[in-house]
Parts: sequence; structure tokens; C-alpha cells
Amino acid sequence: MTDKTYTLNNGVSIPALGLGTWQSAPGKVKSAVSHAIRSGYRLIDGAYCYGNEDEVGQGIQEALASGGVKREDLFVVSKVWTTYNTRIEAGLDKSLKDLGLDYVDLFLVHWPLLMNPEGNHDKFPTLPDGSRDIIRDYNHVDTWKQMEKLLGTGKVKAIGVSNYSKRYLEQLLPHATVVPAVNQIENSPALPQQEIVDLCKEKGIHIMAYSPLGSTGGPLTQAEPVVKIAEKHSVKASTVLLSYHVARGSTVLAKSVTSERIDENKKIIALSEEDMKALNEYSDKLTAEGKVQRFVYPPFGVDFGFPDKS
Ligand SMILES: NC(=O)c1ccc[n+]([C@@H]2O[C@H](COP(=O)([O-])OP(=O)(O)OC[C@H]3O[C@@H](n4cnc5c(N)ncnc54)[C@H](OP(=O)(O)O)[C@@H]3O)[C@@H](O)[C@H]2O)c1
Repeated sequence: MTDKTYTLNNGVSIPALGLGTWQSAPGKVKSAVSHAIRSGYRLIDGAYCYGNEDEVGQGIQEALASGGVKREDLFVVSKVWTTYNTRIEAGLDKSLKDLGLDYVDLFLVHWPLLMNPEGNHDKFPTLPDGSRDIIRDYNHVDTWKQMEKLLGTGKVKAIGVSNYSKRYLEQLLPHATVVPAVNQIENSPALPQQEIVDLCKEKGIHIMAYSPLGSTGGPLTQAEPVVKIAEKHSVKASTVLLSYHVARGSTVLAKSVTSERIDENKKIIALSEEDMKALNEYSDKLTAEGKVQRFVYPPFGVDFGFPDKS
């Protein structure tokens, strides 16, 4: 099912499934990316912050060199890191150089905050007390205005945001000349974020779901309602977790550096209405009990407007 695609609000086609590369260690990520492309993945999700875009690029080149796949068949995603949110094009250029590419298909604002561009570290500057060096006098709309300018450079096919809550989107949209094509958010039956998904749908912003397995170690593969549905269909729990997003009309990103899992994660099944009802009831129960599970929330000390964190 890796050939399923959606059309973004600017007409660009995006695959339903992608390979994630966060925490994919150097020495492993090149072969993971190369293997994924050769086995049918077309979307590779990366970011400057992950510190491995050079190897991701090598994996892409290896797969292209093996034949059968051309650059234009691929959908490469990168994200500008928070220390570059006032220097968007410079951030993009760094990623392109590392990747060895002259354009990315989608470029995202990784998080809507500014860490000190002139701080004591390129990615994670700190203050003398050890806390993160964050510039509080910052408006994320200014970053978006710089993102919009990239569309004229030929270095990006589409632009979007990541980790945008409903509150932040509502701040951004009245000022946007270009509506973001994508909002990449953590999403799973344990963190449905329905208010964001609904707003994005209404505004024509495509959802890319990250950490679908619950991130490191894939803990959501143990969730009881997920396991039950997997048993019913004689598939792995991971298949149910990934298929959930395609049933919701989203793109899903699964990270693995393990060839067998990269292959296994290509399997997407059509979940029935009954399956989705059971997963939605699980989401509703966790929401009502205040037990939704957010696995990725860096300690920035900023209120991004997510109800479970505000
Ligand atoms: N925009 C953002 O701020 C943001 C934040 C987080 C993630 N992302 C993107 O989304 C991608 C996916 O999210 P994620 O990396 O947090 O987590 P994830 O894809 O939910 O889970 C990855 C973990 O699950 C394991 N795994 C993979 N396939 C499995 C399977 N079939 N069965 C059991 N375990 C399996 C992986 O192990 P092995 O690798 O050892 O196989 C890894 O430990 C990221 O890599 C990144 O590209 C974006």
C-alpha cells in the first residue's frame, strides 16, 4: 500500500506512508533509507535537528544509483530547527547541503519557538543556569513570512508547519498569504488531537502523523484495544497503528532502522468502521480521564497551546 498518495492544497502529491529518521543512528540510517526506497517507500522524513541528514542523503543517493527510482519519484521532507527560525533560508541551505539535494519536496517549521541564534550551541543553546536559551520576544508569524518566500527559490515544492496546536494555527492563518500545506503532529489513538485534525481538515492542511507507534520502543503496540484489532485481522499491532492514520486521511511516518520492520510497516490494511469506532472509543476514554499519552515534548518551557500540556 506504499503507493497511496494524497494531494496537498498546492496540488503537490504526497505519499500516505513515510520513513521516519529521528533517532536513526549514524551508521544505520543510510542503509535504512536506501532499503526503504528500494522496497517501495517514497517519502523520507528528516530534519536538520536529527543530525543525520548527511547519511539520509547518502541513503537516497545509494537507492537512486541502484536504478528504478528517480529523484522526482521521491518526497523528501526536512525541517528548519528553532535556532534558525529567523534565518529560514540559511537553515534550508544547510539541510540541502547535508542531503546533497537541490530541493526538498516539503520544508516545515519544526517547532514554533526561537532558541537563541547567537547562543552557545548551534542547536541547543543554554543559559548559564543550564536552562534552554529561548528568545521570548518572538512571533512565529514572522517565521512563516520567511517560509512563504522560499516558494520563489525553487528549493522547496511545498511549505508547512509542525507541532502547531489549534491556538497557534488560529494565530497564524489570518496572516498567512500561503496556507501551510501540512501540519506534522504527534498523533495516535492515544493522542488523537482531534481539535487540530478537524481544524486542519477545514482549512485544507494535510496532517502528517508522527510517533504512530508511541516513539522509542513502540510502546503503543502493547495497547489492549490495538492488540485486539490486530488479532482479529491476524496482523501485527503496528499494522493497526499505521492503518489508523490512512483511515483518517493522514500521512503516517514510521521510524525503523530494522530492515524487517521497514518491510513490515509497508502493510496497511483497511480498518472497518467497527475497528475505528473501537479505537475512537479508546481515544475518548483516555481524553475524558486526562490520560492521553504524548511521547514527544522537548522541555522548552513554552506553552504551545496543546490542551494536555497547557
Ligand atoms: N515533527 C516532529 O517534531 C517530530 C517528532 C517526532 C518524530 N517525528 C518524525 O516521525 C517519525 C516517527 O516517529 P518516532 O520516530 O518518534 O516513532 P515511531 O515511528 O512511533 O516509533 C519508532 C520506534 O518503534 C520501533 N518500531 C518500528 N517499527 C516497528 C514495528 N513494526 N514493531 C515494533 N516496533 C517497531 C522502532 O525501532 P527500530 O528503529 O529499532 O526498528 C523505534 O524504536 C520520526 O522518526 C520523525 O521522522 C517528527
